[in-house]
Amino acid sequence: MSSWAPRPSRIILFVLVLGATSVFYLLIFSPELLSSASFLRDDDDVPVKKSSSKIVPGSKGVPGRGADVVKRDAVVAAFKHAWSAYERDAMGADEYHPLTHRGENLSPSTPNTSNGIGYTIADSLDTMYLMGGPLTPYYTRARSWVADSLSFNQTGEFSTFETTIRVLGGLLAIYHLSGDDIYRIKAEDLGDRLLGAFETKSGLPYPSINLMTGKGVPDHYSPSRASTAEATTVQLEFRYLAEITGKEKFWRKAEGAMRVAREHVPVNGRYVVPIYMDLGGGGFSGGEVRLGSRGDSYYEYLLKQYLQTNNTEPAYKEMYEQAMQSVHDHLVKQTPKRNMTYIAELFTRVVGQGKVDWTLSSKQDHLVCFFAGSLMLGATTTQLRPGVSHASIPPDLTNELTEEGRRDWETGRELMDTCMRTHETKTGLAPEIAQFGENEGGEGGEREWWIKRLHGSSYDARYMLRCVLSLPSPLLSSFSPRFSPLRYLIVNRPETVESLFIAYRLTHDLKYRTHAWDIFSAIEKYCKIPGGGYATVEDVDELPVRLDDKQETFFLSETLKYLFLTFEDEGRVSLKDYVFNTEGHPMPIFPPSITPQFP
Ligand SMILES: *[C@@H]1O[C@H](CO)[C@@H](O)[C@H](O)[C@H]1NC(C)=O
Ligand SMILES: *[C@@H]1O[C@H](CO)[C@@H](O)[C@H](O)[C@H]1NC(C)=O
Ligand SMILES: *[C@@H]1O[C@H](CO)[C@@H](O)[C@H](O)[C@H]1NC(C)=O
Ligand SMILES: *[C@@H]1O[C@H](CO)[C@@H](O)[C@H](O)[C@H]1NC(C)=O
Repeated sequence: MSSWAPRPSRIILFVLVLGATSVFYLLIFSPELLSSASFLRDDDDVPVKKSSSKIVPGSKGVPGRGADVVKRDAVVAAFKHAWSAYERDAMGADEYHPLTHRGENLSPSTPNTSNGIGYTIADSLDTMYLMGGPLTPYYTRARSWVADSLSFNQTGEFSTFETTIRVLGGLLAIYHLSGDDIYRIKAEDLGDRLLGAFETKSGLPYPSINLMTGKGVPDHYSPSRASTAEATTVQLEFRYLAEITGKEKFWRKAEGAMRVAREHVPVNGRYVVPIYMDLGGGGFSGGEVRLGSRGDSYYEYLLKQYLQTNNTEPAYKEMYEQAMQSVHDHLVKQTPKRNMTYIAELFTRVVGQGKVDWTLSSKQDHLVCFFAGSLMLGATTTQLRPGVSHASIPPDLTNELTEEGRRDWETGRELMDTCMRTHETKTGLAPEIAQFGENEGGEGGEREWWIKRLHGSSYDARYMLRCVLSLPSPLLSSFSPRFSPLRYLIVNRPETVESLFIAYRLTHDLKYRTHAWDIFSAIEKYCKIPGGGYATVEDVDELPVRLDDKQETFFLSETLKYLFLTFEDEGRVSLKDYVFNTEGHPMPIFPPSITPQFP
């Protein structure tokens, strides 16, 4: 841990002075000051089962309620529990295994170095900075690691998408929040190294990149293929990098990939698109259409690119609107009894003589839960009636939103309810994949959703911090580590808490804070390792839980950040000023100084 070991007498003096000063300030400024300061016990065991609330008034000029300080500080303590174990056992490694107390790097190409490229650290800096107070010493040491030990001059294959959303996104967010130039310098170096990924015939990025040589690396099994969500989910990051460095090349490369996507919709008359794209010709390919893995953030970034430049690029609004219409035309379904709204998937099926047909599946990835908040955010930003400058909280559906806006808002709210109902399990955690309706064995029944289990063990049943993921080893060996479908589930967001955060901010409905607290309490109860860190639960519908040895970096960048912000004062990271990248890193909304060239 820290190499600076203060003498006990100094500590006592320091604590006394600090204590006296705090009391003094509290007497004078409370309760407003409380909303932005975190006073925590120094151990990690803040009692979380107690669901007491202490809601303080919102800061001046901020609508709605202020922070719920008890719950907010419990989330801060959880972050400290997760981070301090990583720092103790694995500082510098990309990922952390909390049961075996060791680190590991995501790219197998850097076996020698104890340092990775900062996945966990880049993913944690902005969360620590926002939490402030008790995390300041941790933040300071993490910043030193970035300044002194982080090098991107490393050979091997790094995922273009993951490196962009986690490392580049993390550096950009902390640069914006702190104004510390070290992060901009590192981000620009990384951006330069990543640019080579876009050197394909179509301009869509290669799935991987060698950061030392700057050369793109095709997928080893399908060299001409890219995942749709990956190719179209690097834009917020490259565009903001262009804005802060003044280097147009970053903007143009990212924008180019969106132009390719736009040229190839609709597909079979639909604006919901297959989950692969062709690096040569740029078209969509593959027999699956879904808002889950490999599809999800295409839709998310259509909306967010429009928001990022303060609604100045109508092309993204148009693409988003077409996609939302198509989602409603083809994918929004309800269960027969409880009327639970879910987003189905489309598959191709061979129907003889080489003819294929599209068929609907009632499977929904947990990833799709991002879409609940996204729909609500889209409805209140892109679908305002003429003359309405902004939506109220909650929005006045009749007077403020267009007909499409009302439709999207309602679907988003209903989907949010469904996602909460997939937490009706023995642990209170949601599985990775839910099937809606009832199966042949009658499973599903009253609950109207069920978990598919193969050979007793189930990937689908996991909670991946959203809890965390790891792979059953027979499955692991049968997939390329790079392009396994399972791997793709690793890289997305803790969807439900993100949507709960957005839903709370847009409605001020306390039920969303309650849901968020229920999820947090289940994580504390089942995923927390007493010796430090948090791990995966193998099956959310089985007690006692079996744990798996991995703490995903997005637990720190997203799960805990969204939970924290849900209980924090609304003046912190306002949705008016920020869009969150798909890894939970807040990016500021700005009028672009580079002229967009998108139609
Ligand atoms: C890895 O370590 C081995 C043995 O220490 C060394 O020979 C090799 O050059 C190192 N490779 C890299 C990429 O640093
Ligand atoms: C990157 O590393 C290689 C191999 O160690 C070295 O030759 C090269 O000079 C380094 N480049 C930079 C910019 O540090
Ligand atoms: C589901 O919808 C049907 C038709 O609109 C309605 O009759 C029924 O009461 C609803 N069921 C529930 C549980 O809301
Ligand atoms: C975005 O545009 C609105 C109205 O056009 C303006 O009031 C606001 O200040 C802009 N925001 C930013 C961050 O530029």
